[in-house]
Amino acid sequence: MIIAIDGPAGSGKSTAAKGLAKRLGFTYLDSGAMYRAFTWKVSSSGADFGDKEGLCKLLDDTSIRIECSAGGSEVFVDDVNVTGEIRHPSITENIHYISSLEFVRRRMVELQRDFARGKDVIAEGRDMCSVVFPNADKKIYMDADVKERAKRRHSELRTFNDEGSLDSVVEDIAQRDHRDSTRQFAPLKREPDALYLDTTDLCADDVVSMLIKEIKEEQ
Ligand code: DC
Repeated sequence: MIIAIDGPAGSGKSTAAKGLAKRLGFTYLDSGAMYRAFTWKVSSSGADFGDKEGLCKLLDDTSIRIECSAGGSEVFVDDVNVTGEIRHPSITENIHYISSLEFVRRRMVELQRDFARGKDVIAEGRDMCSVVFPNADKKIYMDADVKERAKRRHSELRTFNDEGSLDSVVEDIAQRDHRDSTRQFAPLKREPDALYLDTTDLCADDVVSMLIKEIKEEQ
């Protein structure tokens, strides 16, 4: 069974997907981690984010692997564990150069489908419902008010001592929303057959319980 969840940054997708995976015994697929992983590779190898040909070659020479662990998943680039480093704000800042490239998206879609083959999976990202798993058993689009999403992101950034002001995070999130939803290839969009869930006033446990009910109806 495939459960596909899309939505903008801070909508609560990751928390919900991890909670659902735990409760249902499914495998969690964090597709954003794959885009983050290649962004990490580009940064750490000193490659130029604007050099498409160079990036294409670099991608061919890069192995990206996700392994499931008890606490979620671990991400490896060329066998280096980059699970923590890919969350750094500098990666988030540069990821749009990578996630907008068609050849990158093609490769990530292949990796994501390979990862899910033969498993029960909860997959979250921006194009899970529209591109990667168009025949998913359940499609969900999560959203929340931009200020609430910024508040959630602001507290995550404290881990990196890089939270800045709440206003600057609101601006940042609005810019990411714009980039994610207007890019040419696989933009973030709400599919007509996806269940819409606004999490602005919901706590994580409520979201998971509501979604479990919905999914049980499909099973
Ligand atoms: O979910 P996240 O914040 O880790 O995603 C980081 C970025 O990766 C996000 O700004 C857009 C991109 N992304 C994407 O383009 N497609 C996906 N399926 C997942 C993430």
